[in-house]
Amino acid sequence: MSRILIEGGNSLAGTVCVGGAKNAALPIMAGCILGEGPIILSNIPYLNDVGTMQKVLEALGVKSRRLENGDMELASPGGCNEEAPYDLVKTMRASFFVMGPLLARLKRARIPLPGGCAIGVRPVNIHLKGFEALGARVSLEAGCAVAMADRLIGAPIMLDFPSVGATENLMMAAVLAEGTTTIENAACEPEITDLGNFLNAMGASVSGMGTPTITINGVQKLHSAKYSIIPDRIEAGTFMVLGALFKGPIIVDNCIPAHLQAVVAKLQEMGADVQCEESRAIVRGPERLKPVEIKTLPFPGFPTDMQAQLMVAMCLAGGTSVITETVFENRFMHVAELVRMGANLSIRDRTVVVTGVEKFIGAPVNATDLRAGAAMVLAGLCAEGKTEVGNIHHIDRGYENLVGRLRLLGARIDRLEEENH
Ligand code: EPZ
Repeated sequence: MSRILIEGGNSLAGTVCVGGAKNAALPIMAGCILGEGPIILSNIPYLNDVGTMQKVLEALGVKSRRLENGDMELASPGGCNEEAPYDLVKTMRASFFVMGPLLARLKRARIPLPGGCAIGVRPVNIHLKGFEALGARVSLEAGCAVAMADRLIGAPIMLDFPSVGATENLMMAAVLAEGTTTIENAACEPEITDLGNFLNAMGASVSGMGTPTITINGVQKLHSAKYSIIPDRIEAGTFMVLGALFKGPIIVDNCIPAHLQAVVAKLQEMGADVQCEESRAIVRGPERLKPVEIKTLPFPGFPTDMQAQLMVAMCLAGGTSVITETVFENRFMHVAELVRMGANLSIRDRTVVVTGVEKFIGAPVNATDLRAGAAMVLAGLCAEGKTEVGNIHHIDRGYENLVGRLRLLGARIDRLEEENH
């Protein structure tokens, strides 16, 4: 398996450019099912998950290719088929985002239930209940969710939880329905707003994104569009934490700091100097970070996808911090890995008490999920001695050329490609 090797202790400084948002690219690519296209998407990152989504779409009849300038063109002039392949869906749960657009376009869809993953069971009951509210008959057959509808009729939908994926799937299911759909208790993440803006660029009528009530007035047909997706706020936040761990300055360029207010506020509370401009942030770390308390929440609260990265900073703070994970039931696998590097952590149910230590000691560790993997790299960069991060396929799902970009900031870091034995 490939590994990342880090020699810690260098002081890092410089500019890092943030890529397009993985969690905007995936639902928006799925949204291309809704029209024949061609659709041109810009700022789509070169990530493994994006490649997997291209394969899922290909299997459904949506062809995609990169143009000379890196844009992605997607089209399905020959129509779509209704079933997504299990071997692809099981590798990436975001494949489930194709269910809403397939139901809208074909009035039927058969999608393997995505398995759970390291961070939790991650059911899709909220998605399926919403499809039924729109008039679909939903059943489970041999591990697949099957939805069929003679017609989709706009309806009020109340989500039990502001699920990001369910909000996105239901927005896409509703855009071609007859009449008006309101999604209450909708997720407010910036990626939801990006999806709504994309759907409107295709001729849909979606409003209220970024608030708990999204209104979709069904239209007859959607047309071709060109659309550029937002920068990745979690990648930007990861680099901001890096800036807080060093004197820097680290300039996080091509990002939208307004999408990271909760993260910026916490880093400032810890004593980092974070100067935000419209499309970049300049971050300098203090002599020693201060302890904080964090609770992960749906947007605009502190994002769960930044929990592991902030924990790394808390491990080195002068005092005791507390972090509570309220979104996923099992998102603390990185705790054991950080303890291997000398962190002083204790888990109590969905809370971790972090007693700050002077330093990390380099060690062989593993990435346990996408964001935890990035956190282990952050820890290695500020550790004493050598750190080796294994299972970095997790990191490749969400960070493009992380090693190359960190090297430009002065990190002593290499990637060791090893053939799978
Ligand atoms: C999206 O996952 C993101 N993935 C996740 O990012 C992110 O952590 C998560 O939203 C929360 O912000 C993509 O956008 C591709 P949810 P999603 O539905 O949509 C429960 C990353 O690192 N739930 O908001 O799957 C669920 O179990 C990934 O890029 C139900 O119970 O998240 C979880 O506890 C990791 N029933 C909570 O809601 C449902 O039908 C939040 O899940 C749906 C969700």
